Amino acid sequence: MALTPWSDALTVHSRHRVWWVDDVLHDAAAAWHGAMEGLEGPCVAFVDLGVASAWPEVAERLHACVRDSGAGGVRLSAVDTMPGGESCKAGTAEAMRVAQACLDHGVSRRGAVIAVGGGAVLDAVGFGAAMAHRGVPVIRVPTTTLAQDDSAMGVKCGVNAFGQKNAMGAFGVPHAVLCCRRLLGSLPEEHWLGGFSEAVKIALLRDPGLLAEIERHAARVRNRDMAVAWPIVRRSAELHRHHILKGGDPFELGSSRPLDHGHWVAHRLESLTAWALPHGQAVAVGLAVDACVACELGWLAPGTRDRVIRALRSLGLPVFHPMLLPVERLMAGLEQFRQHLGGPLAVPLLRDVGHAQDSSEVPPRAVEAAVRRLQGLGTG
Ligand SMILES: NC(=O)c1ccc[n+]([C@@H]2O[C@H](COP(=O)([O-])OP(=O)(O)OC[C@H]3O[C@@H](n4cnc5c(N)ncnc54)[C@H](O)[C@@H]3O)[C@@H](O)[C@H]2O)c1
Ligand SMILES: [Zn+2]
Repeated sequence: MALTPWSDALTVHSRHRVWWVDDVLHDAAAAWHGAMEGLEGPCVAFVDLGVASAWPEVAERLHACVRDSGAGGVRLSAVDTMPGGESCKAGTAEAMRVAQACLDHGVSRRGAVIAVGGGAVLDAVGFGAAMAHRGVPVIRVPTTTLAQDDSAMGVKCGVNAFGQKNAMGAFGVPHAVLCCRRLLGSLPEEHWLGGFSEAVKIALLRDPGLLAEIERHAARVRNRDMAVAWPIVRRSAELHRHHILKGGDPFELGSSRPLDHGHWVAHRLESLTAWALPHGQAVAVGLAVDACVACELGWLAPGTRDRVIRALRSLGLPVFHPMLLPVERLMAGLEQFRQHLGGPLAVPLLRDVGHAQDSSEVPPRAVEAAVRRLQGLGTG
C-alpha cells in the first residue's frame, strides 16, 4: 500500500525593519523604541573593538539607549567587545563566545543580542546568536559603509572555516537594523572607501542612475562629503534590501545569485591573501575582472568595461591584485563558488549597465586575458 505523503505549505512571517539615524548613541530614542519592540528580559551587546576604541562612551550609551527605549521589561545585562575585521570570523570561537554569553546572562528567544560593528562582527555575532537556543533575535548596528549599504540588509551570517570564506553560517532575519551616520566618521580610509564597491556593484546590476551619481560625485565621496556619500550608501542599501526581500529567493534556494556579481574572484582573493585584502577592495577587483571577462565573451561593450574600471578607480578602489596570478590558482574560486550554492555554475556577468545575466561558463582564457589587461593598467 502506497502511503500519500503528508505535504503542506509552511509559511513563516517576519518583518525586516531598518532605521536610518544621525546619531544612534545619543539621539535615536524612537528608533531604539521600535527596535526593542516585542522583546523582553535580558539582552547582551557585542561591540567591534574598532568602534569601542573610537567611541569610548559606547558601552555606557548602549545601556542608556536600551534603558530609555521605553520598551518595558528589556534590560541590557552586559556589553562586551569583539576584535573587528575578518579575525573574528576565523572559525567559530568568537561566535561561540556570543552563544555562551546568551546562556550566561539568561538571554532567551525573547531577548536579543545587539551587534555593533562592521560586517565581520555582524556576521560572527549573528552566527553566535543563531546557535544560542536555536536563534536569539539580533539587532544590528552596522558601523561601516559596507555593512550599511550591503551586509546588514541581508538575512545571512557566518564565519570562515576550513580555509574557505563563510563556510559555516545560518540564515536569519534581523529583528531590527539601526544605521547611524555619525559612527561612520571614525572609519579608517580604506574601510570608508571599501563599501562603495558594493554600491558600484548594485548600480551596475540594477540602477544606471546610481552609477551616474557615483561617477559624478566620486571625488566628494573620497573626501567623505556626507551630503553626497550618505544618499549613495542608502540607495545601495535600498537596492540590496529590495532584491533580498522582493527578489523571490531570500534564502538562496535557486541557482541565481545576482548580488554575488564580482564575488567569485573577491572571495578567492580574500582567502589567497589570508584575509589581508578587505572584502570591499576584493569586490572592486572582482567587478573589474568580471567586466573584462564579460567583454572577452562578447557580452559587454569595451566602452562599458572601461567605464566600470574608471568608476572604481575614481573612488580610490583597486582593480588589480598580484594574487590574481597565476590564473589557474584563481580559477579554483569558481568551483568553490559553485559548490557553495550547489547545482550548475551560474556566474552573474554584465550585458550592459543595469542588465546582468548568469553565465554557465567562465573560460580560463577569458579570465587570463582579463587579468592581463588589468595588470597592464598599472596602479597610477
Ligand atoms: N552576511 C552578509 O550578507 C554579508 C554581505 C556582505 C559582506 N559580508 C561580510 O562583511 C565583512 C566585511 O565587512 P566590512 O567591510 O564592514 O569590514 P569589517 O567588518 O572587516 O571591518 C573593517 C575594520 O573597520 C573597523 N571598524 C568598523 N567600524 C568602525 C568604525 N565606525 N570606526 C572605526 N573602525 C571601525 C573594524 O574594527 C575593522 O578593523 C566580510 O567578512 C564580508 O564577508 C557579509
Ligand atoms: Zn560583498
